[in-house]
Amino acid sequence: MKVGLLMRATARAFTNIALIKYWGKRDETLFLPMNSSLSLTLDKFYTTTSVEFCSCLSSDVFVINNQLGDVKEVNKITRFLDKVRKLSGKSLKAVVNTTNNVPTAAGFASSASGYAALAAAATKAIGMNLNPDSLSRLARQGSGSACRSIHGGLVEWQKGEKEDGTDSFAKPIEEGQDWDISIFSVQLTSEPKAVSSRDGMKRTVETSPFYSGWLAGVEKDLLLAKEAIKTRDFALLGNIVEGNALKMHATTLGADPPFMYWSSATMDVIHEVQTLRTMGIQAFFTIDAGPNVKVLCLPKDEQIVYDVLGKLAKVEDIYLCHQGPGITYISNSNR
Ligand code: DP6
Repeated sequence: MKVGLLMRATARAFTNIALIKYWGKRDETLFLPMNSSLSLTLDKFYTTTSVEFCSCLSSDVFVINNQLGDVKEVNKITRFLDKVRKLSGKSLKAVVNTTNNVPTAAGFASSASGYAALAAAATKAIGMNLNPDSLSRLARQGSGSACRSIHGGLVEWQKGEKEDGTDSFAKPIEEGQDWDISIFSVQLTSEPKAVSSRDGMKRTVETSPFYSGWLAGVEKDLLLAKEAIKTRDFALLGNIVEGNALKMHATTLGADPPFMYWSSATMDVIHEVQTLRTMGIQAFFTIDAGPNVKVLCLPKDEQIVYDVLGKLAKVEDIYLCHQGPGITYISNSNR
């Protein structure tokens, strides 16, 4: 009996939260960013994806959270798998089975963990052993922030200079790997956001007069954040992170048409974090493309921060996160 080669692999990737934001593309096809960014991979939320290539298939099949993906989703997956097929020189179609352990309502982009897990599982299944740099470059072409979820802990995505994107990928920040920072994800709404990060950053680059101000300051923010990580200066890191998020959101107000990701509940959390600081608690906020807020503090202050934020009327839920791991391959026998 001839036994066929099993072309199947499963990988898990965790979400990440940007401390210095990626905001704006210089190349939309290759997902090349205007600026470098820095993130923390978290330990709570992840995507697990299995990919199986088979000559028995005439098109790709996509199952997400035990349901067949719609046409739009399948097309996106096929576009991404086409890149994997091109890299490997094989033309086989695949079944992709994804489970998201990510409360999308909490404002965590599942696209980061999603494309990181898909890049890892698909390349492994098709028989390639990509190194982390190459895997990061590939994941980037599904969703920019996904290139950072290849690695655990504190991660820098170097924007690169080359037109072909070969120097645009993420690397772990070694000095920061054992720094235990606490991150509260404060869920304020479960409503889907009106402007996606992809559309929001595009509109801002194209129309906001404040975008040049963003670009003028972001690389300095990144340098200072890395310095703060090196010297374990949490107050410096927090101030830079908060300022960077505010500058990113300021660009949206100048866009045409203008837009704003915050709600009144977002402001309530911001005020509470500022009040915590007047009480001597080192807490700092950051906000991605949505109204929900992430609050950074040190482990010793977790309880007080949790108690204060938990009292706010518009807070739906609070999740506590810490540093999480990079890509993890899950052996098929364990499934
Ligand atoms: C505000 O990575 O979701 O979260 O590359 O278009 O898929 P695409 O965008 P995405 O944008 C993330 C934007 C952000 C900041 C960040 O994560 O750095």
